[in-house]
Formats: sequence, C-alpha cells, structure tokens
Amino acid sequence: MTDQIKKPDPTVVVIFGAKGDLTTRKLAPALYNLLLDKWMPEKFAIIGVSHHDLSHEQFLQLLRDGVDGNSRRGKTTDEEWNEFAGYFTYQRADFTKPDTYETLAAHMADLETEWGTRANHLFYLSVSPQFIEPIAQNLGNLAIAKDRDRDRIVVEKPFGRDLATATALNKLLTGIFQESQIYRIDHYLGKETVQNILAFRFANVIFEPIWNRNYIDFVQITVAETVGVEHRGNYYDKSGAMRDMVQNHLLQLLCMVAMEPPTSFQADEIRNRKVDVLHAMRKIRHEDVSQSAVRGQYGSGWLKGEQVPGYREEEGVNPESNTETFAAVKFHLDNWRWQGVPFYVRTGKRMHEKHSSITIQFRPVPHQSFPEESTENMQPNRLIINIQPEMGIKVRFQAKRPGQLMLLNPVEMVFNYEDAYRVEAPEAYETLLLDAMQGDATLFMRADQVEAAWALVMPIIETWESKPSLHFPNYAADTWGPEAAEALLARDGHTWSVQSPTKRKAAAVK
Ligand code: BG6
Repeated sequence: MTDQIKKPDPTVVVIFGAKGDLTTRKLAPALYNLLLDKWMPEKFAIIGVSHHDLSHEQFLQLLRDGVDGNSRRGKTTDEEWNEFAGYFTYQRADFTKPDTYETLAAHMADLETEWGTRANHLFYLSVSPQFIEPIAQNLGNLAIAKDRDRDRIVVEKPFGRDLATATALNKLLTGIFQESQIYRIDHYLGKETVQNILAFRFANVIFEPIWNRNYIDFVQITVAETVGVEHRGNYYDKSGAMRDMVQNHLLQLLCMVAMEPPTSFQADEIRNRKVDVLHAMRKIRHEDVSQSAVRGQYGSGWLKGEQVPGYREEEGVNPESNTETFAAVKFHLDNWRWQGVPFYVRTGKRMHEKHSSITIQFRPVPHQSFPEESTENMQPNRLIINIQPEMGIKVRFQAKRPGQLMLLNPVEMVFNYEDAYRVEAPEAYETLLLDAMQGDATLFMRADQVEAAWALVMPIIETWESKPSLHFPNYAADTWGPEAAEALLARDGHTWSVQSPTKRKAAAVK
C-alpha cells in the first residue's frame, strides 16, 4: 500500500482562524491522521494565524484537546503528538494589517531556504465572512500567493448568504486569484460514501441502463441530524436549513445521483457534468413555493431520555425567530433522463436519528403475473445508498418465501463498508486537505456551481423570508419533521422511505 502513496510536494499550510472550532475539531485531527497514515509531504509546516493572544504552548494544547476529542483514532499518544506538534507554529496577527502578511511571507521564505525549494502554499480561510476580503486582498499583493500552479486558497462555507453575495465573493476572489487556485469546500464531497456514488454508477455496467425515467419512479435524499444548533445559534439564526444544508450539501448529493457519465475523471469534466444538472433543474417560481417546499422549526421535547430546548430557546437565537431548522423540497429536472421524476430532499436538526441516505425508488413491474394472494407484500425495487452513520448500499427486491405456496416478500441485498473492507474510512476533511495539497480540485466547488445552486434556492428563501411562518415551532425533537413534509409526498402518492412508524410522534408541539 505504502509504495502506491504519492505524497504531496513540500507544502506550507497556513490556517487563518487557527483557534476556531473548525481548526480544532476538524482540520487538526485531519492533518494528524494524514501524518500518521504517511500522506503528509516529506517537508511541510503548518502556520496557525489568529488574533487571539495565545502562547505557542497554549495553542498546541488547544489543538491537542481538539485532536483527542475528535480524531477517528481516539486519544493521541505522547510520541505521536510530539512529532505532529513539531510542525506547528502560531502567529498572533490582525487579518486586516499588511504587516501580518509580511511576517508570514518572511517566515515562509525562511522555511523554503531551509528546505532548499519553493514549496506549495495552501492558505486555508477558516474565518468569519468579513475577513475573507482583507485576507484575499493582502495575499494577492504578495508573491506568496501568486504562483498559479503551487499557491491555493481554500474557502470554507458559508460561501455568500445569497446569490448576490456569492457572486460578489466570486468576483472578488477571481479578481485576485486564478479560478484553478480557489478551492471552495463542501465537506460532503469528501465523504467516502459520497465519492463512492461515482464508482457505483460509473464503474459498473448494470445500474446505468436503468438509471433514468423509464425505470426510476422517484429519488429521495434525507440528511437528518439529532443535534440542535449547539453553540452556533448566532450564525444559524441568520442562515437556516436552506442556506446551511440544501444550497450546498443536498444539492451536491443530488448532482452526484443525476449527473451524466463523465468522459474522464478530470476535475473540470466532473464539475461540468454537475453544473449541467443544476442548469437542468426547474427553478421553483415564488408562487409555487408553498406547493414545492416545506419548512419547519423544532420545539422543545425529549431526545434519548433528555429534555431539550426548542430552537427559539437556544443561545444566540431570537426568541421570535422565523429561521427554519428543517426544509424539504420537491425538485424536477428538465432533461431527457429525468423528465417527470421527482427528487425529494429533506434535512433537519433534532430529528429522530442521525441518518443520511439516498433512496432510488424504481417503478413497479409493468405487468403483474403472480396471483393477487402471492403479492400482498410486493413492493417496488428500491436502492438505498447509506451515507452516514451506516455506510453502504442496499438493494430491495422480491423473493419467494420458502414453502409450498408462492408467496412473495421484499428482501435486501446489502453491501456494508465495514464488513467489506475492514479498514477505517478517512474523514472527509482528510480527503479534502490531501486533495488541496495535491492540487486536485475535483471534490471542490467551482464558481459557477456555487452560483447555480444559489439561484435554485433563492425563490424559496425569498418567499420564506417575506412570509414568516405562523406555525413555528411545528415539529418536536425526536420526530421526522413537520407533518407538512409527509403531505408533500403524499400528494404524489409517495412516502418518505426513512421513517420509524413506532417512534413517530404527533408533530404538533406546545
Ligand atoms: C455543516 C452545517 O456544513 O454540516 C452544520 O453547517 C451541520 O449545521 C453539518 O451540522 C453536518 O455535517 P455532518 O458531516 O455531520 O453531516
């Protein structure tokens, strides 16, 4: 295995926002695991930049706590930690001052003199949106970010808060850097199970011929979380489920399911096919939003034996907030492959279980040759791609029950990652950081993708903002969201495939 590893060239990783949650919970554990898995470059350094007054030791302790609490390997050992910590330095700095960048450039130049080579530079912006501009402008003034082949800038979400701000941000960044230098993160694309959708669809011959309107009845995508807004009330209350999840993660999943086969695995080829999907999606008109989309907000309730507050009681949230914590949308694609096939997507916080999956529901058989009494339990074929926490693929088909009677029953054929591979899958951020260090942008968002995705959700966001809900909160913790989300599908004669009838509770709250 090790001899297949092509490590990235020497790299300096600069993390702006080095004390933040993302750095401690995601980036540091990802870099740590990449080092232990021998994927980090032979020569590399990580410079953490933030405005907090921290000593080098305090900074390292924060990182270690983050890695201990969040690494898939569990707690660090002293030996491994000390090796990892040796690659870090901390720079306390003001993101808006030019001398911050001069100090940074001098530090990077020293490292490169020591290594005897011009390294790749990866600037990771894990900062509040207002700092993106000063950081990008200041970097753009210096040679450290000018090499179009070696210098890259990684931008975290939120990428704008609507179409206008996303377009302005793209304009700003593409005015300073080449598009090929800009890596916009959607961490769902780094998940193993999400990447596997491409392998499943395009490395097998048996699925593609039936992957169209002739055989598929509808598609469902569910991304459900049990957590509430946690300590992110301030951010979330200005965002909501449509901006936070649907505009990015859910639409990306939809693109993976609906895209045409790429002619190669080149970043731009894959991204072009995904943009085609976004362009084929029917824009929902403002006057049709109530028919095509459902919003929800969680009230207080009980979750796994614990009483949990309602959204409006969460820290940082306006007690009269109109922000949705649940969203469900019915989309259509206007192209030959998908005409007439609804794509239902839903996501929510405080739902019954943490569960993300894609369900492909096939049409019923065209002619029923079995007698009625044989087929009482007959159900159409269904393919479920489980993204998390369960990771795998299931196919539902009919089988004859053993016995003298011809009785048909649905059964499942299951592929499960853990059983099949017995190796631990890397975390999404490990994959994405490694790709960014290697200059592979396949799993990152291009400017036009981001804008096309915003354009699709804008009518829904605008309609919801202009008409506050009179029914919030409208679902309790530990449910699958508001009743209206069931009705959205019931109108088409369908139901959500992921639900647990025994646990369902009335959606009405307080
Ligand atoms: C983030 C959202 O992008 O994704 C969060 O901002 C959400 O609100 C998170 O909780 C979910 O990610 P994951 O990987 O836990 O499914």
